[in-house]
Amino acid sequence: MERVNVNGIQLAYERRGRGAPLVLLHGFPLDHHLWDEVAPLLENTFDIILPDLRGFGNSTMLDVPHNIDDYAIDIASLLDHLNIQKAAIVGHSMGGYVALAFARMYPERVSGLGLVSSQVLADPPERKEGRYKSAADVAANGIGSVVEAMTPKFTTDEKLQSYARASMERQRPSAYINALKAMAERADSTSLLSSFNFPVVIVHGDADSLIPIDRAREVKAALPQAHLVEIPGAGHMPMMEANEKTAEALKHLA
Ligand code: MLT
Repeated sequence: MERVNVNGIQLAYERRGRGAPLVLLHGFPLDHHLWDEVAPLLENTFDIILPDLRGFGNSTMLDVPHNIDDYAIDIASLLDHLNIQKAAIVGHSMGGYVALAFARMYPERVSGLGLVSSQVLADPPERKEGRYKSAADVAANGIGSVVEAMTPKFTTDEKLQSYARASMERQRPSAYINALKAMAERADSTSLLSSFNFPVVIVHGDADSLIPIDRAREVKAALPQAHLVEIPGAGHMPMMEANEKTAEALKHLA
């Protein structure tokens, strides 16, 4: 992996393929390897940039809290470093929240947007409270209970569950804590949708038990020109549960 100094941290990323620039952002609490099954299917179409969001994978973080916008600012700085002015930004789940923040802050740098198993809504109060409880639990007891709670929600496929578990176990507790708080405080992006003047792709498993398929259908209803691909039987990891369908959908951003 390459590493670049941005905004006081070291941001790690992989780059592969050739074509139109495409950034693939992982969700919580994972790293860029989430896209391992999809990236090979896209590398003849895109110049793919696969960052580890600050604190996750091989990227460092600061010893102070950050918010969702900070993750997006890191991505803009990475694109600056790579001399890429405009890219399609795709995010899985929390990565989708980052993609939306990027589109709000840098609309002129977005050639397309992809939301995979994500949503535009902010957290309702009880979810927000749950995030702070989880963050306190991680601070006191480590990541164990979050990993236990999330593993079965990612997917019902046992092989993929052990993959997700191993990936979650690789991440630092401090990255969990900051990301949980950042997600809790994220803005609602519903009103942003009407400003989008680039292609939008939505990919969602209809068996997603972390973010229900209705969240994807609501985006499609608000943005009829968006390309929605519902994946029957897939949970929260369509890029692994249905990598070919996910890759085909993302090619609409080329
Ligand atoms: C994710 O998969 O990134 C998170 O579960 C998203 C969330 O908790 O809202």
